[in-house]
Amino acid sequence: MLEDLRQQPADPLLSVISMFAADSRPQRIDLGVGVYRDEAGRTPVMRAVKAAELRLLTEQATKSYVGPSGDLEFLERLRGLIFGAGSADDRLVGLQTPGGTGALRAAADLMARGGIEGIWVGRPTWANHDPVLVAAGLTVRDYAYFDPVSQSVDFAAMTAAFESAERGDAVLLQAACHNPTGADLSIDQWREIAEIVSRRGLVPLIDVAYQGLGASLDGDMAGARTVLAACGEALVAVSCSKSFGLYRERTGALFVLTASPASRPKVQSNMLAIARANYSMPPDHGAAVVRIILSDNGLTEDWSNELRSMCARIQGTRRQLARIGRLGPIDLSALGAQRGMFSLLPLNTEQIRILREEHAIYMAGSGRVNLAGLNAGDIDALVAGLTKVVAREDLRQPVDAVSLRPQ
Ligand SMILES: Cc1ncc(COP(=O)(O)O)c(C=O)c1O
Repeated sequence: MLEDLRQQPADPLLSVISMFAADSRPQRIDLGVGVYRDEAGRTPVMRAVKAAELRLLTEQATKSYVGPSGDLEFLERLRGLIFGAGSADDRLVGLQTPGGTGALRAAADLMARGGIEGIWVGRPTWANHDPVLVAAGLTVRDYAYFDPVSQSVDFAAMTAAFESAERGDAVLLQAACHNPTGADLSIDQWREIAEIVSRRGLVPLIDVAYQGLGASLDGDMAGARTVLAACGEALVAVSCSKSFGLYRERTGALFVLTASPASRPKVQSNMLAIARANYSMPPDHGAAVVRIILSDNGLTEDWSNELRSMCARIQGTRRQLARIGRLGPIDLSALGAQRGMFSLLPLNTEQIRILREEHAIYMAGSGRVNLAGLNAGDIDALVAGLTKVVAREDLRQPVDAVSLRPQ
């Protein structure tokens, strides 16, 4: 039986990571990873997380199951963070999930149960969106999200696609800090999307994976909230991996906005059935940490201050790069207007290879760079490497369509 399986392609980012690990050049730069890094290149455990863990160690009285919905107070506190303080919850159902990926998968399963066939996904997008949606049986339809020439959102293409979608189709939207482009919608564009989505009867699935790393905790949700306010039904997949630095603890949640309060029990029963059939009960630790932080004013303040300083570090790096301006086809000033850890540089495969081999600069094969991987001392070396590869006649081919395919 196993002999008939087909070999699956390896994750291309893993090979970038192992090539970087094997590189002994002192000035090497790792822009490939998908996690936050501080100035010293570390992905630290946040202070409030450590404090909450110490509390958990002394106070936790049982390791019994948490129940299929998860930690209810975690859900309640996280709801406030996502939907805003004082948001009404009579149409909301929450489910604690193993990470944001678990939330996306539960959302996709729920949509498939609800009879949704097609989901529109922006190009390019996070590498795991398509596999998760397809695994749930949904048909993925593409919309162009990013124009690599202007290095900004292709809003005309996006709205044209939404206007052509069938009533009842789903649309996947990233709330902020778009992965892999860093190009977010403006608040006016979000309002327009909210109007189209509601007029055409589309179902938004909003992916929240970087709250607080773009502008601020509320600022990063402002656009998504306009869509949620305009819609009858919507799904919100939340990851606590980046905002709380809890990557390996697999902490996330799915919130579903139902058409009316009366629909909640039925929707919730389906969400619980999905959880039960997938993993039964969610892991506890990360959600307990988030619950402790968000139910303690002092820890909440310490956590949000640390998150703000992480955000400020990324914004500072973006400003420094933006000041450099244009390097041939690469407009670094566009990076100043973008948000979050990622930007997508318009480089072709050969240029990316030469940057790696001759300049020890590592990035994803799509040209996605994680700006949190840069420290102040790396910026000159990065700019020197980019200047050299864009100047080389022999490498001057158009940016591959590769960068717009699922990564
Ligand atoms: C856009 C986006 N959504 C969701 C996730 C899922 O995060 P996790 O499952 O690690 O919580 C990620 C992780 O990189 C992401 O970039």
